[in-house]
Order: sequence, then structure tokens, then C-alpha cells
Amino acid sequence: MAVGIFDSGLGGLTVLDAAQKRLPDVDFLYYGDNARAPYGVRDAEDVYQLTKAAVHDMWDKGCDLVILACNTASAAALRRMQEGGLPQGKRVLGVFVPLIEALTERQWGDNSPPREVEVKHVALFATPATVASRAFQRELAFRAIGVDVEAQACGGVVDAIEDGDMILAEALVRSHVDALKRKMPHPQAAILGCTHYPLMEKTFQEALGPDVKVFSQGNLVADSLSDYLTRHPNMYGNGAGGFFTTGEPRRVSDRATQFLRREISFQAA
Ligand code: DGL
Repeated sequence: MAVGIFDSGLGGLTVLDAAQKRLPDVDFLYYGDNARAPYGVRDAEDVYQLTKAAVHDMWDKGCDLVILACNTASAAALRRMQEGGLPQGKRVLGVFVPLIEALTERQWGDNSPPREVEVKHVALFATPATVASRAFQRELAFRAIGVDVEAQACGGVVDAIEDGDMILAEALVRSHVDALKRKMPHPQAAILGCTHYPLMEKTFQEALGPDVKVFSQGNLVADSLSDYLTRHPNMYGNGAGGFFTTGEPRRVSDRATQFLRREISFQAA
């Protein structure tokens, strides 16, 4: 019995870590497409095809429910997969909605018309593909009116994190925050719209300043998953958990161990 967590690479570990803490009795099957990361510089068709292939692999490994713990994949593939029809008993969910519900102070599944919310100026940090998709703005418009979103495509950050070059990642984050502030000098809130970015959350917060509320997805997705599993207790799946990668297992295990500060051992997908 395992719930699947998918990412292009290591970023989804930030969601996995929160989900494991929130749901200690649930097994998880983590799948990183590290051989093909980053997804954020690929076009939408490419991201869709790669995501679909990986999710099918996870379903074949016994997961019934797969969380796309990747905003880029959620933006390019989630709706298309859901609309294209899923195999019987299989589900795929993304990471946007819990975050936007938190930002717009909504309870899960509150589908009432969009309304004015407290926050008016929001900075969105995400991959180039997620920014180009405008998926955040679309989901936000379903729930809130009068919110000004300024998006900053954070080129290079995912590559630096995947390479374990945290000094470069930090320098890039600071320069992307500077670029954002030139467009929106006083954001009230900032969305870390890529699951790799919580690994740099301290740097984002420092560069943005203490008055900016930073939203990241780990705990929000974990809470919403817990809620989902309570309502759908048949979605735990029947396969075993574990860590799978299309990349080089030893290298990926070393990085994952460094990020989560506990021994993580990947095997070839
Ligand atoms: N963690 C992915 C996301 O949330 C990174 C995408 C990439 O591989 O560029 O968007």
C-alpha cells in the first residue's frame, strides 16, 4: 500500500517529507525523473508526455493515487491527464489548489464565486514553464478578485539544486528576488511555486524581508492529502513504497540524504 509522489527530480522530497510527518503510517512511493530534470525549460507537450509516462509507471508499481509534487508537471499535464480519462481506480492530483486555497483563506472544496481577499500584491516564483502556463493566475481567478500577481521565472535554480550547488542556487535566488522587487517593490505575500524552492526558503525569506509572508507547498499539500485519504480510504494503493529515479541512484541518494538529513536510498525506476 503506497501513495505515489512524483517530481521531475529532488524537489518533490519537500512534499514527501511533510507528508511523511503528517501521515506516519502511510507508505509512499517517490519517483524522480532526475535523468530528464529540469522540466521547467521544456515545452508543455514534452512535460505532458514525460509526466504521463512516469505516472503510468507509478500506477503499474501499485500506486492508485499519484500526487504531482511538481508545479511544472501540474501546470502542463494534470488537467490534460484528468480530462483524457484515467484508468479505472487510478487518480492523479496536483499541488496548486491547496496553496491557492491557503492564500485565499478558503476551506477545501469551497467552490463559491471568487471574492475579495486580504492579500492584494503577490509575488510568484516558479520555473519558466510554470510562469508561461499562467496556471497559478488561472486557479487564483477562480477564487479571488483584485489580486495583483507578479511572476518571476527563476531560471537556473532547479539545475543548481539538482547539482547540489547551493552557493549558486542562493546567488540565483537573490538575483531573482531583486528582479521581482524591481517590478513589484512591496509584495505582501510570496508563493514558492516550485517544489525545489522550499530547499532555499531561508534565502527567499531573507531576500524578501520579514514583512513578506512566504507560502510553500509541503505542509499545505500534506494537510490536503490527509484530508483526501480520510474521504477516500480506498486510495492507498497496493504496491510497496520506496524511492525510484530515472537518474543515477547513488548520486540521487546522496543529494536526497543531504537535503532531508536522513538516509535515503534510491533504486533505478
Ligand atoms: N519541482 C519542480 C516544480 O515544482 C521543478 C521543475 C523542473 O524540473 O524544472 O516545478
